[in-house]
Amino acid sequence: MGNTRVRDFERSVRTTDLIRMKRQGERIAMLTAYDFTMARLLDRAGVDVLLVGDSLGMVVLGHDNTLPVTVDAMVHHTAAVSRGVSRALVVADMPFLSCHTGVPDAVRAAGRLVREAGAQAVKIEGGHSVLEVCQRLVEAGIPVMGHLGLTPQSVHQLGGFRKQAKSATEARKLLESAQALQAAGAFAIVLESIPEAVALEATELLDIPTIGIGAGPHCDGQVLVSHDAFGLYDEFVPKFVKQYADLGRQMTAAAEDYVREVRDGAFPPVRKRSLSGSYPD
Ligand code: KIV
Repeated sequence: MGNTRVRDFERSVRTTDLIRMKRQGERIAMLTAYDFTMARLLDRAGVDVLLVGDSLGMVVLGHDNTLPVTVDAMVHHTAAVSRGVSRALVVADMPFLSCHTGVPDAVRAAGRLVREAGAQAVKIEGGHSVLEVCQRLVEAGIPVMGHLGLTPQSVHQLGGFRKQAKSATEARKLLESAQALQAAGAFAIVLESIPEAVALEATELLDIPTIGIGAGPHCDGQVLVSHDAFGLYDEFVPKFVKQYADLGRQMTAAAEDYVREVRDGAFPPVRKRSLSGSYPD
């Protein structure tokens, strides 16, 4: 508990602000965060939405995909992020299968992310298969962000992390799903790895904001996995990623300096004894 101890309620970004931002043509900046320190740094930078993505399974826990991430892991990381945030909207991913074993299970899992971990909304991957869950969560007072296109929890079904909605039929299906999610009460939709023309059509069609990742420049906002954007994760970096910093290389170089100085005896520095024979503070 105590997850909101640094939150600034006056300046907090709310789900309704994102819809207003779309109406006013203001772009939404979203990044992922998985711990207190990262959340604090990104919040200070003015990021509007911090997503505790189940990408943590890959970039934090070292799995090949997001499927091993559990509700308990999401609660643990979301609570840490919530403790670091003053302004940004905190959205937590509903992990693999948490929406597919029945509506009560989904409501319980989302409820834990909100009540125990301090999330202000949850994100759900999928279209028609999650509409009932979306509607019931919204009825229960839990805002829902949708996620269409490349949905990493379906990596085996999709045959890998591939671009989606490339054919006219798939594009039409995606647009129908987006409208259905909006009708079910979703307040925003992530569009991942789809052609920019499809993302543009979805953005024009919907009243709620679209947040793109690998979906071109026409969405109402953009999201990146922070470890990709800041050069912290180099196992697999999607082509659409822009790397804004090279923190991984910097951290390794800093650690090399530290190792050398410890081995050389340069750190900590040797302090001279005072004339009285005691050591100065
Ligand atoms: O888990 C995640 O980080 C995500 C983003 C890629 C949108 O779902």
